[in-house]
Amino acid sequence: MSNQQWLTRSAQAVWHPCTQMKRHESLPLVPIASAEGAWLTDFDGKRYLDAVSSWWVNLLGHGHPRIKQAINQQLNRLEHVMLAGFTHQPVIELSERLGALTGLGHAFYGSDGASATEIALKMSFHYWKNSGQPEKNRFISLENSYHGETVGALAVTDVPLFSATYAPLLRPALRAPTPDARRAAPEESAADVARQALAGLQDLLQQHAHSIAALILEPLVQGAAGMAMYHPDYLSGARALCDRYQVHLIADEIAVGFGRTGTLFACEQGGITPDFICLSKGITGGFLPLSCVLTTDQVYQAFYGDDVTQGFLHSHSYTGNALACSAALAVLDTLEDEQIIAANRERAQRFSAILAPLAQHPQVRHFRHIGMIWAFDVDTPRADFSQSFFSAMLARGCLVRPIGSTVYFMPPYCMQEHEIALLAQASFEALQQLAQGGASGAAQPALA
Ligand SMILES: Cc1ncc(COP(=O)(O)O)c(C=O)c1O
Repeated sequence: MSNQQWLTRSAQAVWHPCTQMKRHESLPLVPIASAEGAWLTDFDGKRYLDAVSSWWVNLLGHGHPRIKQAINQQLNRLEHVMLAGFTHQPVIELSERLGALTGLGHAFYGSDGASATEIALKMSFHYWKNSGQPEKNRFISLENSYHGETVGALAVTDVPLFSATYAPLLRPALRAPTPDARRAAPEESAADVARQALAGLQDLLQQHAHSIAALILEPLVQGAAGMAMYHPDYLSGARALCDRYQVHLIADEIAVGFGRTGTLFACEQGGITPDFICLSKGITGGFLPLSCVLTTDQVYQAFYGDDVTQGFLHSHSYTGNALACSAALAVLDTLEDEQIIAANRERAQRFSAILAPLAQHPQVRHFRHIGMIWAFDVDTPRADFSQSFFSAMLARGCLVRPIGSTVYFMPPYCMQEHEIALLAQASFEALQQLAQGGASGAAQPALA
């Protein structure tokens, strides 16, 4: 069957995420038939370079042989068993390894990122309740934060496009200033912005700590805010303030975990251990949905007792799915055996050199980079920029999804230099085309 036949059927039967479906009257869906490495192929044989790791999940490349093999082997033994009352080898091994890597020895599983956020928020509140402080039942999140779109996660998310409609359902978090380094005045550094943001956080904690269970943040990069990057001093400062005011620190590493910022976990760059770490997305290399919240002995012990309601009575049917855990183990094996994070540091230097001319484009502002993420803002009057740039890049065989007027690349770690060069060239051409008034699309902000 051709692209056209599949997309007609999809538009009729599938309600696609984060989409005004009517938009697909003018912007066709892209039906993907297969994928390998950094490339997606549609049913007509056209190829697209996946510069966003398929919504930031595909860590090592599509069809990665070692992950496929691990899933296949597990498939022949055990596909799934409920994790309440039962356990199995992949979930035990994964929990042990993640515990050793994060310094947080108790792993609780969910499926998608948002379910990890829900788990961390509920666990933090419940910890304080079990510890005789039920009044600690609110949260602080950062301005422009994104932690997922279930009702609890949306309350700590500061993206009005997604949350405003549901405001009557939400109990919004208090918002601390973002340490987004782009806010630096000409003579200021990213560390100065971090310091100012910490002062704002301290004010909030001074006033409200008695009613606050946790601060939740995305370490080093606020992804959905448009790859807002910030100085690691903010992490160490936030950790110190949380300790001082007796508030948990939840590190949402759903987007940045597993090497994305240049270290296995972004928190390492701030020299901190959070009270909770949320992991998902790249955890299975983009093969299967899995999320995990890891926490401390102290938190775990507060739930341990004879009273059943003192325990954490939260569950998802696919908690700790054996196939997903085996994929995650294969990801950890590959990262370790092939020393991928160290190799990425050199790879990223070469990629930065290839992308450097883009920073000189007259419309490009705040060209920035950390680990395996590159981003820049485009100074454009076009309200339809994100849509039009997406279309212009797709026509050139590249998948990117600008966030507002921010273009970013978050490639799978298998990306090669010639592919980054293709991306740079296509971006340059697309910017030129849009500046000349081409590739218009419906005005529509696109996320991630
Ligand atoms: C930092 C962060 N937290 C949570 C989520 C939600 O993850 P999911 O879409 O898997 O629910 C995302 C998704 O982009 C994210 O970037």
